[in-house]
Amino acid sequence: MINQNEFEETTRQYGFISKCRWYIKKKSKEIGRPLYACIVTFGCQMNARDSEKLAGILKKMGYVITDTEDADFVIYNTCTVRENANLRVYGRLGHLKSIKKKRPDMMIALCGCMMQEEAVVEKIKQSYKHVDIIFGTHNIYKLAELIQAHLDSDSMIIDIWKDTDRIVEDLPVERKYTFKTGINIMFGCNNFCSYCIVPYVRGRERSRNPEDIIKEIKTAVSEGVVEVMLLGQNVNSYGKNLTNPMSFAKLLAEIEKIEGLERIRFMTSHPKDLSDDLIEVMSHGEKICRHLHLPLQSGSSRVLKAMNRHYTKEDFLILADKIKTACPDISLTTDIIVGFPGETEEDFLETLEVVRKVGFDSAYTFIYSKRSGTPASVMEEQIPKDIIKNRFDRLLKEVQREAVKLMRRHTGNIQEVLVEEVNTQERQLVTGRLSNNLIVHFPGSKDLIGQIIQVKLKECKGFYYFGEQVQA
Ligand code: SAH
Ligand code: SF4
Ligand code: F3S
Repeated sequence: MINQNEFEETTRQYGFISKCRWYIKKKSKEIGRPLYACIVTFGCQMNARDSEKLAGILKKMGYVITDTEDADFVIYNTCTVRENANLRVYGRLGHLKSIKKKRPDMMIALCGCMMQEEAVVEKIKQSYKHVDIIFGTHNIYKLAELIQAHLDSDSMIIDIWKDTDRIVEDLPVERKYTFKTGINIMFGCNNFCSYCIVPYVRGRERSRNPEDIIKEIKTAVSEGVVEVMLLGQNVNSYGKNLTNPMSFAKLLAEIEKIEGLERIRFMTSHPKDLSDDLIEVMSHGEKICRHLHLPLQSGSSRVLKAMNRHYTKEDFLILADKIKTACPDISLTTDIIVGFPGETEEDFLETLEVVRKVGFDSAYTFIYSKRSGTPASVMEEQIPKDIIKNRFDRLLKEVQREAVKLMRRHTGNIQEVLVEEVNTQERQLVTGRLSNNLIVHFPGSKDLIGQIIQVKLKECKGFYYFGEQVQA
C-alpha cells in the first residue's frame, strides 16, 4: 500500500540509477574493465540491512560489488553507539586517503548513524576533504541521486535529514545470503534510554505497513529465502502508530502463514513492552525460532530507573521466568552495560545476581560509553576506568560460566540446522545454525548451504557444537 508520493519517489530514483548506469558504462569502456564498489558496514543488523539496500542500488547501476577497499567506489556505513565505533571509522578513512591518491577517480561516501551528528560532519569537512558524499540514515534510498549530484558538481555533497516520516518502498536490494535476510518492520526509536544515541540518529519510531512487510517476505521466499530476521529497535511496540494499529504478536502470526518460509527471528525486544500475547504466539509458533534477545542493561532497579528503561529488576526476573515456563527450550540472550554513571558496587552485584538467576545463553557486555547529547553524558559520578574494567572482567567471567553450563544441555539431541557456509578453516566441514541461534560444525559439502537438515549434536566445544548429519 504505497502512497502516490512514495511511488513517485521510487520512480524518480530509478531515473537517477539509469543516469548513473550510463556514466558507469562509459567509464568502464574507457578503462577496459568493470567498476568495483565496496561497502564497509559497522554496527548493528539495521545497518547490515541498509547496506544490502545500498548494494542493490550500486549493482543496478552497473558496479561489481567487492570486499576490498581498493575499489572505484567505497562507502562506509557507520555506527556511533559507542565511541570506539567512531574511532574505527576515522582510522580507516585516513588509510583510504592514500588509496585515493593513486586513484584520482575513486569516489568515497559516508553514511549511517555517525553522519547524523553535526560535530562529525564538521570534522569531516575540515579534516577529511577526500570524502565525496555524506548522507545520513533517513535518505539512503537517494544514493543514486547523490552520486549524480557529485558527478555534476565535482564537489563534496552533504545531505543529512534530521528526521523523516517517509518510507520509500520497492527499491532494489542485494542480499548478502541467498537463504536468509533481514526485514525492517519499523524504523527509529522513541524510548530515549538515557545512555543511548540511537533515538537521536535514527529518528522517531515508524512502522511499515503489514502488507508491505508480507509482500517483501513473500518475494524473498520466492527467491530462495527460508529464514527472516524482523528488525526494529523495539519490535514489541510495532504497529502502534499505523493508521490501522496492529500488534507485533499479530504481525508474527500473519508472517507464520507464509508458505515456504521456514524460520522467523526478530530483534530487539524491549522488556517493558513484551506482551503476554507475544509469549503465547511464541510458544505455539512453528516457525518462530527458539531464541529471544532480551536486553537487561542492568540488574539494579535504581540504575534501570536512571537509564529510563521502565522496568525493575523484579519485573525482568518475572518476565524471564514467564518466558522460560511458556517456552522451556528457549535460549535467552541479553545486553548488559557496565559502569553507567552512579553505578555502585552494590548495583553491580545485583547485575551479577540477575545473570546467575536468569541463566542467559549468552550476553553482550559493554563498557558504558559517554555519548554527547544524551542525558547520561552530563550525569554526575561518571565511574573511573579502573573500577569499570574490574567490574567488566568479573561480569564476563560470570556470563561465560553460566553460558557454558547451559550450552551443554543440548548434547546428544537431534536438531534442525540451517546450513550457512563451508567452514572457513576446515573445508570438509560446514557451519550451520540451530533454531536457538547456536552454531554447529559438521562434515558436509557446499551443496547443503541454504538447506534445513537434521543434525545430531555430538560434542559441546564451549560456545559451539560439533555434530553429524542424520537422515530425517
Ligand atoms: N534497541 C536495542 C539496542 C540497540 S543498541 C535495545 O533497546 O535493546 C545495542 C546495545 O548497545 C544496547 O542494548 C546497549 O546495551 C548498548 N549501548 C547502547 N548505548 C550504549 C552506550 N552509550 N554505552 C555502552 N553501551 C551502549
Ligand atoms: Fe537505544 Fe533504548 Fe532505543 Fe534501544 S530502546 S535503541 S537502547 S534508546
Ligand atoms: Fe550503531 Fe546505528 Fe545500529 S548507532 S548500533 S548502527 S542503529
